[in-house]
Amino acid sequence: MALLKVEKVNKIYTGNVNYQAISNLDLTVEKGEFVGIMGPSGSGKTTLLNMIATIDPPTSGNVLIHDANPYLLNFNDLATFRRKELGFIFQSFNLLDTLTVRENILLPLTLDGTPLAEMDARLEVIADKLGITPILAKRTYEISGGESQRTAVARAAIHDPKLFLADEPTGNLDSKNSTEVMQLLSRLNQEEEATILLVTHDPQAASYCDRVVFIKDGSLYNEIYCGDNTAVFYQQIMDTLTLLGGKQHVIPPVRH
Ligand SMILES: Nc1ncnc2c1ncn2[C@@H]1O[C@H](COP(=O)(O)OP(=O)(O)OP(=O)(O)O)[C@@H](O)[C@H]1O
Ligand SMILES: [Mg+2]
Repeated sequence: MALLKVEKVNKIYTGNVNYQAISNLDLTVEKGEFVGIMGPSGSGKTTLLNMIATIDPPTSGNVLIHDANPYLLNFNDLATFRRKELGFIFQSFNLLDTLTVRENILLPLTLDGTPLAEMDARLEVIADKLGITPILAKRTYEISGGESQRTAVARAAIHDPKLFLADEPTGNLDSKNSTEVMQLLSRLNQEEEATILLVTHDPQAASYCDRVVFIKDGSLYNEIYCGDNTAVFYQQIMDTLTLLGGKQHVIPPVRH
């Protein structure tokens, strides 16, 4: 059974002007797959991710996670579903400044009323794995961008979610920190069999994926799989981006 099925999904934003951001899109992701989503700015990547994230419903078509449609859940069940089954990682980290690194990571468990001893045990394992044990007591304004994103990955991973959704997680990081975050995601994928959906403009980051799906004007344009050779895969990603055109090489502005 596929972990995620996006079936004939359309998304039309309504307003002064209606805009069809996603057209008749199908996407199936198996458990344990690491899938990249690339495409020019405005092609609909975030729109697609938000529909899968159960943040914004499709105008038509279905999003199924483990064959269930999360949009049929009531408000409270949907909130619980999101918190337990999904792990979000954003470009802008979305950490809470008034909390320490430890408190940020534990926030999802605190909301669930998980016993303190269990929270500490889980935190210890994850912090160790992500190399952030020394900074747990710091506040988020006392840590670097790379450390912030590792904290955000830890917060997303603390629940052991079925599906990680990452929108430009390396967009605000320099190349060294980008590499570290990508290696972390790659390890989560390989060691924990985490299923990951990664939106990125960065071909280097995308080359960590098993498969990259390219979107153009809200439709699937192409997809390529990583073979045995990452260098070849990277080159194929570059070539497809060139064919795709658009402004995907523009680095998005830093947002806070
Ligand atoms: N809330 C909204 N209301 C109306 N139009 C929207 C809304 N959000 C996005 N759009 C439009 O839908 C299209 C797709 O936007 P989306 O944010 O999904 O693009 P993207 O591929 O993530 O781009 P980027 O790489 O710049 O992040 C764009 O043309 C955008 O202007
Ligand atoms: Mg986007």
